[in-house]
Amino acid sequence: MIQRPKGTEDILPFDVYKWQYVEKTLAELAARYGFNEMRFPVFEYTELFARSDGESSDIVGKEMYTFNDRGGRSITLRPEGTAGAVRAAIQNGLLSGNFPLPQKIWYNITAYRYENVQKGRLREFHQFGAEVFGSESPYADAELISFASQIFKNLGLRDINLEINSIGCSKCRDNYAEALREYFGQFDELCDTCKTRLKINPMRILDCKSPVCKKIAEDAPIILDYICDECKNHFDDLKSILGLLGVDYTVNPRIVRGLDYYTKTVFEFIANGVGTQGTVLGGGRYDGLVEEIGGKHTPALGFAMGIERLLLAMTEQGISVSQSGGTEYYIGDTGGKKEHEMAMLTASILRVNHCTVQTNVTEKSVKAQMKYADKIGAKFAGIIGESELASGQIKLKNMKTGEEVIKNFKGTDFKWLIQWVK
Ligand code: HAM
Repeated sequence: MIQRPKGTEDILPFDVYKWQYVEKTLAELAARYGFNEMRFPVFEYTELFARSDGESSDIVGKEMYTFNDRGGRSITLRPEGTAGAVRAAIQNGLLSGNFPLPQKIWYNITAYRYENVQKGRLREFHQFGAEVFGSESPYADAELISFASQIFKNLGLRDINLEINSIGCSKCRDNYAEALREYFGQFDELCDTCKTRLKINPMRILDCKSPVCKKIAEDAPIILDYICDECKNHFDDLKSILGLLGVDYTVNPRIVRGLDYYTKTVFEFIANGVGTQGTVLGGGRYDGLVEEIGGKHTPALGFAMGIERLLLAMTEQGISVSQSGGTEYYIGDTGGKKEHEMAMLTASILRVNHCTVQTNVTEKSVKAQMKYADKIGAKFAGIIGESELASGQIKLKNMKTGEEVIKNFKGTDFKWLIQWVK
């Protein structure tokens, strides 16, 4: 038996309603905040991610699914949505001046990272993301964060904390990088990766998972002591607008995020009780990325939420989703050709009238059909046999109460069914 690849999951028919519920809630809420859906490819040229997500990030350094296609081009399965969304926005002229700014888009995608697999950390996972192109105002940051926070409220998640930080712009980051180099340069115990990070991007050391580097990082200088006046004012304004909107937050000066494109605001929502993979949603501003990819300067910001982690957090916090729909009618038959055909027609007419119907597409016995009707949770079940054909009546059994109701179905157009259904 060929197993599914490590780090992937199957979403089974009896679980999919939870996904559908979450996806519907997200799409409705996104529309309320003025976001439109965008869809873009699962794979892109590798260079897009290398340039956007950053050579020094773990994602680009060791987690991408990269291969050469038959034409010899280097292709990568998207490890996240932002790079593809930005590429698509530029390529399709959304940021060219022909469309109003800000452009606000959302997406619901699969993403691929070659990670160490554990609960809540997969190699194929799902992200709901939102991106705003064309505003540098802290009001855009506040609106985006309040949208994210509303998602959790609407889904009933309570035990979740918002942490925010500012990692400044390229100007203030140069000074900060210098301070980090000076600090981390004193420690020979840093892991080999961090020794390289020290040269390329010392901020990445703050994100290292090694316990030794983590311990050393505890006393490292914090970015908030280095950000310039403009970034500081932006961050102060954001905090006061969040206060106005009633969005609770904690400033965590240690958040740096795992991707290189961020500037100024960064934030994460961390759910309690989910263990080490509690970061359900992460995002921030990336004012330089559009230009980096070849568009004209367009300040931008966004977030992405892991759906698997969201569902884990919901389960952990005892939030149940009720399953709507299900089969209303099972219309079976005793096996003769005519009976079978009548059952199929009856089912068709019920379906035209918006009923959910299953019918006998096997050659099962009546007993087996009724068992099946029970197992699939049909509300009513009826069997068409010789006497039903002759009398023009069908007995429908209420599967919960056992009560039987007789319905007429004389005539060829089944008008009675239509009336009865209404
Ligand atoms: P990220 O923090 O790398 O940011 O991922 C966002 C979310 O995706 C995480 O908070 C987590 O819930 C989920 N996630 C990430 N990796 C995995 C994994 N291996 N297994 C399961 N879930 C995972 C981004 O991807 C940015 N593109 C977010 C963004 C949008 N920033 C600006 N715009």
